[in-house]
Amino acid sequence: MSSTSFKGISLPRLAAIVAFAGLVFLTVLYYWSSYPSFCPAPPFKHKQHIESYYGMNTSLADGHEDKPILLLWVWPENYRFDFSDCKTFYNIDGCHLTDDRSLYSDSDAVLIFHKAISWDLSNLPPSPRPLFQKWIWFHVESPTNTQRIPGLENLFNLTLSYRQDADIPVRLRLVTSKKPNEDFVIPKKDKLVCWIVSNNAASTGVSMRNKFYQELSNYIHVTLFGKAYASFLDYKDYYPTIASCKFYLSFENSVHKDYITEKLNGPFVAGTVPVVLGPPRRNYENFIPADSFIHVNDFPDTKSLAEYLLHLDENEDMYRKYFTWRKHLTPTPHLIQQTQEFILAICTACDYVGRHKEYKEAHDIYNWYFN
Ligand SMILES: *[C@@H]1O[C@H](CO)[C@@H](O)[C@H](O)[C@H]1NC(C)=O
Ligand SMILES: *[C@@H]1O[C@H](CO)[C@@H](O)[C@H](O)[C@H]1NC(C)=O
Repeated sequence: MSSTSFKGISLPRLAAIVAFAGLVFLTVLYYWSSYPSFCPAPPFKHKQHIESYYGMNTSLADGHEDKPILLLWVWPENYRFDFSDCKTFYNIDGCHLTDDRSLYSDSDAVLIFHKAISWDLSNLPPSPRPLFQKWIWFHVESPTNTQRIPGLENLFNLTLSYRQDADIPVRLRLVTSKKPNEDFVIPKKDKLVCWIVSNNAASTGVSMRNKFYQELSNYIHVTLFGKAYASFLDYKDYYPTIASCKFYLSFENSVHKDYITEKLNGPFVAGTVPVVLGPPRRNYENFIPADSFIHVNDFPDTKSLAEYLLHLDENEDMYRKYFTWRKHLTPTPHLIQQTQEFILAICTACDYVGRHKEYKEAHDIYNWYFN
């Protein structure tokens, strides 16, 4: 019996077997590593894993980190602005806003302005749409001023509107403060009732407010400003002019639930009492305190409204009561230039997209909007 054997296999034979096995192993390893097809190239979304694997860190170089991409499909009315305004004006920074259509297939959401959609739908984004992508119906007009373009019913996952029950409601809100606001003083007044009217096109549903104004002006003097009348008001004069009036006519162009616009916000910011014409008082009270405004429906006719305003003009204490709410609530100034009209809406969409990743089935926008 030879001592140089292992379980009956001689040492030289064992060495040969081990060497052969090693050769096979190395050969397999060589082919494995030199054929990339064995290990498919990682898709784009794993980029960050790869970077960390290779010890790189480019999360800053990317610019928009992991923020969802919101693609503005068209510029509403071609009113362009710098996307960084969302951060500047509203401290909104939750998405990567872009108008670059080459990012379409990578966009988490696409914002589509209703009024810009052509009747044959040919300027909608291309099909098929990426499965993860949400389309947002962007429309801030009231139903009176909305064209029912056919074929849009079940395309949009989300709605962006002034309506409170929209997926993304757009509204300037009063902000509460626990610490009483002691700085507010009622601005000096040298006019009684004022009204800035820029749009007087009958097609936009303004006939009701015009009729109301005609009647009211029989009983009380109303100072008029704006494009629709002789004196065009410069933007810089907007807030100071409203501030110089005791009352301001916050008359909406058409009457719809939640359709309460910057026409109310203007006098609030300026420190003037709004006289509102729009949805019922109850609807206003969802957003602003009951004692902060005068509703035209509080009176049986325009004559009694005029008499009440004249009475308040004589009675300083009663007039002051319309400002008590300001102690713990602060209005937010709105942007007043025409080209800034859609900034708040677009930024609000960005904020929403940054916070919401959940699936949302498309629903019939018209059924929701017109009923
Ligand atoms: C990568 O960069 C980000 C942003 O500067 C930083 O917060 C993070 O700590 C970095 N990670 C590593 C592993 O260096
Ligand atoms: C958006 O709606 C369409 C149509 O209902 C649906 O196919 C798609 O999956 C939805 N996308 C998301 C991300 O919710």
